[in-house]
Amino acid sequence: MQIFLIIFASLILIIALLYVLVPAWYGLPPISTHPDRIRKALKLANLQPDETLYDLGCGHGGVLIIAAKEFGANAVGIEVGPVQCAVSWVNCLRSRIRSKVRIEAGDFFKSDLSQADVIFAYLTSEFAERLEKKLQNELKAGGRVVTVAFELPHLQAVVFDRESLIWVYQK
Ligand SMILES: C[S@@+](CC[C@H](N)C(=O)[O-])C[C@H]1O[C@@H](n2cnc3c(N)ncnc32)[C@H](O)[C@@H]1O
Repeated sequence: MQIFLIIFASLILIIALLYVLVPAWYGLPPISTHPDRIRKALKLANLQPDETLYDLGCGHGGVLIIAAKEFGANAVGIEVGPVQCAVSWVNCLRSRIRSKVRIEAGDFFKSDLSQADVIFAYLTSEFAERLEKKLQNELKAGGRVVTVAFELPHLQAVVFDRESLIWVYQK
């Protein structure tokens, strides 16, 4: 009996460590955007039904669920944390929107973003320069990028919401 308890406790510890350490290794805490802030950001980005939204680092899947359920969009989440990927997947399943959502495990800097109509990013200014270069190369014409809590250094935002610190850029 004791051995099972030790195995169970070790598993929980490994999952908890992966949950915190993988995002930290990539320079971010595993903090989710508040649902009202997500709704506001997607409205400001003018996300339309059947458009494709990408969330760069989808965490628990909150952005994907709101995009698919409330805006009728197709949603792609790219996430490097294995625990976050699993949580996103379960949350999307529970919200009955699996058919409108795809979750990719991996580094969004290595992903192709050219199919996105709207890209959502809740990151920090440390990501800004590198992300901007990638977006300038890959974002399709008419594509929008909505950033929360950080801005892109050389692009002019078409929308800026000072209250919620949300920027929208358009190509
Ligand atoms: C601040 S959380 C945002 C979660 C979600 N987008 C939201 O707004 O609720 C950032 C997430 O990005 C993930 N992440 C950080 N760097 C990444 C990278 N290079 N590729 C994929 N995911 C990354 C982290 O694991 C974390 O889950």
